[in-house]
Amino acid sequence: MAAPYLSRLSTVPRSTWSPAPGLSALARNHRSPRSQTPANDHPPCRVSAWRAAACAAILASAQACPRVSAAARGRRAQAVHSRAGSATACAAGDVPTLHVGLVGYGLVGQELVRQMIKEGPSLEEKIGVRLEISAVSRSKVMALLPSDSFNFLADGWDESKEEPADLEKLGQHVVKAAASTGGRALIVDNTASDAPAELYEAWILAGADVATPNKRAGSGPFSRYEKILAASKKTGARFLYEATVGAGLPVVGPVQSLVRAGDEVETVEGIFSGTLSFIFNTWKPGVKFSEVVKEAKEKGFTEPDPRDDLGGTDVQRKVTILGRELGLKIELEDVPVKSLVPEKLQQWDAPSGKNLADAFIEELEAYDDEMDKLLEEAEKANEVLRFVGAVEVKSGKASVKLDRYPKDHPFAGTQFADNICAVSSKWYTPRPLVIQGPGAGAAVTAAGVFGNIMEVMNGMR
Ligand SMILES: NC(=O)c1ccc[n+]([C@@H]2O[C@H](COP(=O)([O-])OP(=O)(O)OC[C@H]3O[C@@H](n4cnc5c(N)ncnc54)[C@H](OP(=O)(O)O)[C@@H]3O)[C@@H](O)[C@H]2O)c1
Repeated sequence: MAAPYLSRLSTVPRSTWSPAPGLSALARNHRSPRSQTPANDHPPCRVSAWRAAACAAILASAQACPRVSAAARGRRAQAVHSRAGSATACAAGDVPTLHVGLVGYGLVGQELVRQMIKEGPSLEEKIGVRLEISAVSRSKVMALLPSDSFNFLADGWDESKEEPADLEKLGQHVVKAAASTGGRALIVDNTASDAPAELYEAWILAGADVATPNKRAGSGPFSRYEKILAASKKTGARFLYEATVGAGLPVVGPVQSLVRAGDEVETVEGIFSGTLSFIFNTWKPGVKFSEVVKEAKEKGFTEPDPRDDLGGTDVQRKVTILGRELGLKIELEDVPVKSLVPEKLQQWDAPSGKNLADAFIEELEAYDDEMDKLLEEAEKANEVLRFVGAVEVKSGKASVKLDRYPKDHPFAGTQFADNICAVSSKWYTPRPLVIQGPGAGAAVTAAGVFGNIMEVMNGMR
């Protein structure tokens, strides 16, 4: 039998709390965390009632605009109308313009552009702020766009407009575009790269807001993170990163609101990986662990190298972000992770010519018996296995590990690839605030980023 690679799991005490009633939030249903295929069989996002109201406020504010007079609304409607008729007819400055520079045009970036193109005109009418894509960059090339090129990306990427990528130049272009209309500049980083994160401080110092689902700044060197926050404090330009944890689920915002409102958060714990959520929601006695990983791979849930999911680094980044939100001065390395990748396979290479994921899953079969034992032990105790990240404020400690939960615990009730987050605080006790729903996928992630964009737009009214 293979040497045990997971220590005996601790048992979480049986708890009497349960999640609040269901509520549909801004997150759209989806089937796979990495694809954008919609599914109607997924439960809606859940969040406690009053918090739900706060979380839905961004979208609600887009539905009505009581502070804008009928005449102003009429003027804006006219501007939208004239823009629809002629891309160059609308006089810039008629309505305040948010000039957006997009860095990263992959799954999330492209979905965000689709959402912006679809919702932009109606938001202009309802909020009274115009959205304009002023620049877009991929890893090697970028396009700096003249005014009124909103629909530049509507028909796909136009190679005739591209030039070599230069993110500093992109930032300068967007800030200049905003200055020319008296609007605001916003850079949206839809990459997983460190390169844009290195520029956040400069962008914010230049007056541009930054919004991102990229976890690099929030979980990278603390000194850089501090500089970004200090720049934001200095200039008032915002650093927004709701989609870094829970994708489209409101997690960062509610935690920030509680802290600012004077609540004392004690613990934040949750299932923050859609892939690992799927694996442990699907894995049942009689099924081999490697078979479930294979199913996750076939459904498109896993990274090309499944070790990137099973290793827990993504969850470690999210826990670091939440820990910092709660005042802990932690680095990524301060969050211990119990990897699900057997030690022998951590530095392993696939035989040449073989698909890495398939070969890795074949190797994983050797550890199925050991994993079976963990599941059997949990079953016997009427418990489930869940891969959980946690921050404990009092002790200043954070962790990422496979743990056991009673079957009536909210973490046991997750479905499909749900994320769930439980916040225990002075106010939320003995029952914590619970936020649950689809926590990955380009559509919900882009929706989370779009929520941040609308926050900026609302601030411009
Ligand atoms: N997809 C999800 O379900 C999900 C969920 C939650 C959070 N996120 C986060 O969202 C972000 C984007 O994810 P994704 O799935 O959209 O990734 P993706 O499909 O791999 O796209 C990444 C994009 O970033 C571009 N890029 C990489 N390095 C760059 C650089 N230095 N400068 C400019 N552009 C650069 C890539 O350029 P090329 O086009 O040239 O390759 C690509 O367009 C990541 O931080 C991810 O962790 C994603």
